Amino acid sequence: MSERIAVYPGSFDPVTFGHLDILDRASAIFDTVVLGVLENPGKTPLFTAEERVELLQACLDSRPGVQVTTFDGLTVEFAASVGAIAIVRGLRVVSDFESEFQMALMNRRLDPRVNTVFLMTSFSNVFVSSSLIKEVCQLGGDVSEMAPPVSVEAMHRRFAERRESHD
Ligand code: PNS
Repeated sequence: MSERIAVYPGSFDPVTFGHLDILDRASAIFDTVVLGVLENPGKTPLFTAEERVELLQACLDSRPGVQVTTFDGLTVEFAASVGAIAIVRGLRVVSDFESEFQMALMNRRLDPRVNTVFLMTSFSNVFVSSSLIKEVCQLGGDVSEMAPPVSVEAMHRRFAERRESHD
């Protein structure tokens, strides 16, 4: 049987335990999961694409069959370029569903060969999102239960740099 490859695209700004949870669930289904870090998301990221890749890589020690790369342009083109049969996306709350559903149908229209596979996060990660943990971390809150230590340390460093450059 041919190798079953999936892409897991996202901003990963920065990687959270929610992302790693979805990644592990995807890895149990696919032979290879290629994490795709979107280079130029509409939103201004806290970390460069290279920094986001480095943070992901730092979390992947014991995860064989997982690769990380950046991509630009359409997710379906990225998926085709690595021979993926599926796009993995995580679902947390019902409100995620509408935009994810639209994206999945648009991606199917763009390339009918690729299916989107939605995986549900664990209870502990239902309210974990990169944007929320950035806000909480910037305001001095503890996010260590929501993101791996490398992400938390990187956020502290980045916010400290920003504070210094404003002084
Ligand atoms: O982690 P995010 O920010 O929720 O990820 C969103 C992402 C990267 C999956 C989405 O913005 C995307 O696929 N962007 C690539 C451009 C593209 O293909 N757009 C059409 C999708 S319907």
